[in-house]
Amino acid sequence: MQNQQTMDKPGKFYITTPIYYVNARPHIGHTYTTVVCDAVARRQRMMGYDTWFLTGTDEHGQKIERSATAAGCSPKEFADRVSGEFRQLWDRMKLSYDDFIRTTEPRHVRGVQALFKRLEERGYIYKGSYSGQYCVYDELYVDVTEPGAPCPECGRPTETVHEENYFFKLSAMEAPLLKLYTENPEFIRPETRRNEVISFVRGGLRDLSVSRTTFTWGIPVPGDEKHVIYVWLDALANYITAIGYGSEDAKDKAKLARYWPADVHMIGKEIVRFHCIYWPAFLLAAEIPLPKSIIAHGWLLFEESKMSKSRGNIVRSETILDTLGADTLRYFLLREIVFGSDGSFSFDALVQRFNADLANGLGNLSSRTLSMITRYFDGEIPYPSPGARDASDDAVAQLAQQTIADFHAQFEQFQFSRALETAWALVAAVNKYIVEHEPWALAEKEDQDSRARLATILHTSAEALRVVTALVHPVIPESTARIWEQLGLGDIAKLDLRNLAWGQLPLHTKLGKVEAVFPRADKSTIERMQQIEQDRAAQSVPAAVAEANAASKPVQPAPTAAIAPAATIPAESNTITIDDFAKVDLRVGQVKVAEKVKGADKLLRLEVDLGTETRQIVAGIAKAYEPEKLVGRKVVIVANLAPRKLRGLESQGMIVAASIGDDGVPVLAGFLEDVPVGAKLK
Ligand code: MSP
Repeated sequence: MQNQQTMDKPGKFYITTPIYYVNARPHIGHTYTTVVCDAVARRQRMMGYDTWFLTGTDEHGQKIERSATAAGCSPKEFADRVSGEFRQLWDRMKLSYDDFIRTTEPRHVRGVQALFKRLEERGYIYKGSYSGQYCVYDELYVDVTEPGAPCPECGRPTETVHEENYFFKLSAMEAPLLKLYTENPEFIRPETRRNEVISFVRGGLRDLSVSRTTFTWGIPVPGDEKHVIYVWLDALANYITAIGYGSEDAKDKAKLARYWPADVHMIGKEIVRFHCIYWPAFLLAAEIPLPKSIIAHGWLLFEESKMSKSRGNIVRSETILDTLGADTLRYFLLREIVFGSDGSFSFDALVQRFNADLANGLGNLSSRTLSMITRYFDGEIPYPSPGARDASDDAVAQLAQQTIADFHAQFEQFQFSRALETAWALVAAVNKYIVEHEPWALAEKEDQDSRARLATILHTSAEALRVVTALVHPVIPESTARIWEQLGLGDIAKLDLRNLAWGQLPLHTKLGKVEAVFPRADKSTIERMQQIEQDRAAQSVPAAVAEANAASKPVQPAPTAAIAPAATIPAESNTITIDDFAKVDLRVGQVKVAEKVKGADKLLRLEVDLGTETRQIVAGIAKAYEPEKLVGRKVVIVANLAPRKLRGLESQGMIVAASIGDDGVPVLAGFLEDVPVGAKLK
């Protein structure tokens, strides 16, 4: 990270997240990137940098247009809704972004058009025609020839397009890009991604089509409005339009001059090519300075599988916020995932981390130290008398000094997990120090020496607690702010991290109100989180169908994990073609077995005969139907829904029901006439 200040722009730090597509609601994958950036931005501010942290939403393109149609609203209404959800979530998590850009905002539209014109004026844009395959999901022209062939990036079927387009002379950028990568090893990090990019560019670059005429939901090409600008050119430009590019206003110009170039573009590994090839190519062509570094992190998996709608294993941040709080999620994401590599999320691991590190580790250190000071010293941090020190106190002091140095160095290298490990090694050492010295036993003794020793131990512990709290504040801001106040140190926002050192506890510090910061979690917390996810899934079924219609399906959906599907965009009215409808395989089935699912009061496990096979279906209808009364009943089943696991049981289809009233009471679909098992609905 930077402690590299440039001569002309001292002390600024500009960090960005990718702007998130609005065709899917925010989940913990998006939260991961945003939280990483938030922690970095918070720390840079505490280190005295004039920091600008940008996030936002990417709202144009065919994918969004189709999702909006499927949800029965205009693309703008659709984008407003989902963009609002991202913003609300970030606000609920108190993320410290300075600006939230939406690509539908006039300031962005104006800036993108200005960039397009600039590229045109500089001779990098020409009109040509494109004929080939396009992946709507990735918004990418792909190098496959067969109509409908799978996209090499995501496996979804590609679409054939023949159009007249504007092209960007990407091929002319091959040599300048290779020079850039070679001369600036820090430009792409980590090294593995840099190598991938270099070998891709060495393989040759073809000119890039940067406009489309087959849909309208985008930014018009200036002067030729039947074309809209390619969504990645539109999206990438957000990093400059948000800070004033394209504006004639003096304030905007000053802001652009102040913050550009960005210090860090933080991205997920799947969008490296767009950021490390296209973006610098556009900037080089437009003669705009390049960002200092593009940092790609790995993927957050759910119990080892990629999170995706088709697998039904998307985890929402809200579930964790409602149970263990934002700091727990932040700590988990930065501690558990080795930055740069893929990492795994599970509710079990989350609760384990919470208990081990937050409740038993930092929480215990804080509550035992502060409550003993309250009890034995009337709430005023005691000062040690020099004669009462021994080697163990000095060892804590030394370890704390080392911790400060190591933590800074590791955090600046984006080694968040190691930095937190370093901080928690101090927490563990001080907890051990307390246990070994038994201050509670010393407190029972009346003599002067014991009293002086007790003062020294509690002072040392409080000082170590202060150091750790300050260091990890950017990672767990809420709980550390509370500990800081309890330590009697006031508002942690005023802390300057550059000066943090051992031995700065002011004399006669009076503690604030002492209370537990991290209550313990147990199995019921995991169950609560699973129940929240399940309830959300049960509410989202009609919308899930709408969304499935909107995007092309993955080629190989693989059901694996135990979390219910994502809540998707509510569909009020929905227009689909007959071909879309034909994709849903609705069949008559007969319930053979019905029973309650242990530990899930809303679920029934059914075995349903479809004529050719028997399917296990887990349905959220237990509150409305006695299992015994269902046996023998004919029901309607969605037979080609990707299987998903609920409470460890694989559900191999979905039972169709009307949803009645505000509570969504399910009423099963059925027939007045007798219908044979296996009959298809069409
Ligand atoms: N709109 C583009 C980005 C344009 S930037 C100019 C896009 N949007 S996205 O909604 O698909 O978000 C992708 C980003 O979200 C990833 O690069 C990553 O930062 C984050 N993540 C989404 N899912 C993720 C995981 N499962 N794990 C980690 N991060 C992931 O691509």
